[in-house]
Amino acid sequence: MCGIVGYVGPRDAVSIILNGLKRLEYRGYDSAGVAVINGNQIEVRRDAGKLSQLIDLVGKSPLQGAPGIGHTRWATHGAPSARNAHPHVGNTGKVVVVHNGIVENFLEIKDEMMAEGVNFLSETDTETIVHLAEHHQAAGVNFVEAARRTFKQIEGANVVLLMSVDEPDKIVTARIGNAGGVVIGLGENENFIASDIPAILEHTRKVIFLESRQMAIITRDSVRIETLEGVEVSPEIHTIAWDAVAAEKGEYRHFMQKEIHEQVRALTDTLAGRVDFKAGRIRLPELNLTPEIAKRIQRIYITACGTAAYAGMVGKYLIEKIARIPVEVVIGSEFRYSDPIVDENTVVLAISQSGETADTLAAMEEGRRKGGIIWSIVNAIGSQAMRVSDGIIAMQTGPEIGVASTKAFTAPLVDQYMLAILLADLRGTIDEKTRKALVADLRLVPDLAGRVLDTESEVEKVAHALKDITGCLYLGRGINMPIAYEGALKLKEISYIHAEGYPAGEMKHGPIALIDEEMPVLCIAPKDPWHEKMISQIQQAKARGGMVIAVATEGDELIKGMADHVLWIPEAPWMLSPILTVLPLQLLAYHIAAIRGLDVDQPRNLAKSVTVE
Ligand code: AGP
Repeated sequence: MCGIVGYVGPRDAVSIILNGLKRLEYRGYDSAGVAVINGNQIEVRRDAGKLSQLIDLVGKSPLQGAPGIGHTRWATHGAPSARNAHPHVGNTGKVVVVHNGIVENFLEIKDEMMAEGVNFLSETDTETIVHLAEHHQAAGVNFVEAARRTFKQIEGANVVLLMSVDEPDKIVTARIGNAGGVVIGLGENENFIASDIPAILEHTRKVIFLESRQMAIITRDSVRIETLEGVEVSPEIHTIAWDAVAAEKGEYRHFMQKEIHEQVRALTDTLAGRVDFKAGRIRLPELNLTPEIAKRIQRIYITACGTAAYAGMVGKYLIEKIARIPVEVVIGSEFRYSDPIVDENTVVLAISQSGETADTLAAMEEGRRKGGIIWSIVNAIGSQAMRVSDGIIAMQTGPEIGVASTKAFTAPLVDQYMLAILLADLRGTIDEKTRKALVADLRLVPDLAGRVLDTESEVEKVAHALKDITGCLYLGRGINMPIAYEGALKLKEISYIHAEGYPAGEMKHGPIALIDEEMPVLCIAPKDPWHEKMISQIQQAKARGGMVIAVATEGDELIKGMADHVLWIPEAPWMLSPILTVLPLQLLAYHIAAIRGLDVDQPRNLAKSVTVE
C-alpha cells in the first residue's frame, strides 16, 4: 500500500524517484505524484491512474530539482483523483508532504485548521499534516521542529515525508505507530528514502530501518535519527544481500510467473544451513529456542492474513502431528477481538511476507501485551514483524513483487515443518528414527517442486479449457484442505473469477447444491491419508454433472479415469505434499488470468502490503 521514495543529493531527483516508484508498483496503488524543490519553489506533478500516466505528464510538463519526494497512493480518504493524489502542498506553498497510513484524528485537526482559515484542497486525511507543519512554522519554529511537533500530534500508524523551501537541503521523515516501513539508503554524498528496499537497491545496499516513533533528518551528507522526543539514536546499518536483478522480471512475462518458478531455489535456500541431514537435526538459531522454552510451551497461536494464514493452517497440522502441541490459527484481524488465552507458556507465531501487515502486527502486539512468546516467520528483512519478535525464522525467498503471494506461501510450509521437528526434538517427544526419517524427507522437496513446475505447459492447456468459467469450487481434506483455500484465493485475486475453497467433507452440508455442468470442481486428491475420502468426493461431484479437475499423484489410474482434467504431482511424503499440490494451482490461476489478459502482478483493488486496518 502507498509507495514512498525520497532523494537528497546532487542529481536530479525526478528520474530517481520515478524509477524507485516503478519498483514499488507491486504494492498496489491508484494514483501517483512527485515533488521537487527547485530554488525557492516547490514543484509538483501528480495524476490519477498508473505511473505511466505520471511519466507522460512529467514528459509533457517537465520539472527538475532536488531534494524530491514521490508517492503511489492507495486511496483510503477520498477517491483516486489528481486532486487527492500526493504530494500535497500547504497554503503558504512552503511545505510539501507524502504519507502512508491513516491520520486517525484528522477530522479534529481539520476543524482546527479550518477555524484558522486554512483552505483544504483535497478530501484526504494527509492534507492535515502539511497544514499543521505550516501552522507550526508560522508560530516561529524552524522546519525540523515544526515537523517534529506535527508528527507528535498525528495519531494512528503513519509514515510521513516532509520538505520545506525554508530548509531546502533536507527531507524530514517519521515513522509513527506500526506503520509500513521506512528504509533510509546511504549513498556517497547522497541519500535515499523508501517504503521498501527494491526502490533503492540499484543505488545502495547500506540501509537503516526507522523504528516506530523515530524521525530522521536527512541531507545529502548526513542522516540524523532521533526519537520524536528529540533524543538522538545511533542506528544499526544493515547491508542488504539481494541483487537488484532479483527484483527484475527477466525472461518471464510477469513477476508472478517468475516467482512461481523461483520456488525451487527458495526451497533450497530455506533448507541451507538449517538441516543437518547426517545427524537428522534442525537448527533455527534466530528463533532463540532453548530446551527450557520448548518444554514449557503449552499452546501455539498462529496468526496471519490471507495466504500467510493458509500457510499457518498447514502449519497447525504439522506442529500438532509432529510436536503434539495444540495449535490454533487465528486470522490477524480477529486475534485481538477474540480475547485469546495467552500467557508466558503460549507462543504467538506470526507469518507474514511483508512483515508490515497492520492486522498481523496488531495481533503480535496483543500477544506481547498478554505476556506471550512472540515468534515470526517473515520475508522482508528489517520489517516491523521481525523487530518486535523474540525469535524469527527468516524466509529465504528474496523479494516477492507479484501481489499474489506464491514463494512466500511454500517457504513457511517448510519453515513450520522444521519448527515442528525442532520442538519435538527439544521436548524429547520424538524418537530418533522418526526424527531422522522426517528430516531426510526434506532433502526431496526442491527436486519434487521442480518436477511439478516442469508440467507448466500441461497446466496451461487446462487453463485454456477453463478460461471462460464464472466460478469454481476447490475441495481438499486434512493437510491439503488449506490448499483448497489458497488455490481459490489465487484464482479470485488475479482472474476475478469467483472461487470458493471448502473442506471436502463439508460439501454435502451445503455447497453440493451449487454443482451442475456450469460449476467446475477442483479436487485436491494426492496420495495422502485422505485419498479415499477424496475419491468419493469426486464421485459425488461427477454424479451431479460437475466438471472435475483433480490434483493427483502420478500413476493414480483411478483418478485419471474419473476426472476431466488431472494436474499431476510426483509421489511425496504426505506431510510435505501441500508444498507440491499448491504449485499447479498457482500455475493454473496465473495462466487463466494471463489468457484473460489481466494485470497479473497488480490486480485491481489489491495491495501487496496491507498497512491499514
Ligand atoms: C496473497 O496472494 C495475498 N495478496 C494476501 O492474502 C497476503 O498474503 C496477505 O495480505 C498477507 O500479507 P503478508 O504476508 O505480507 O502479511
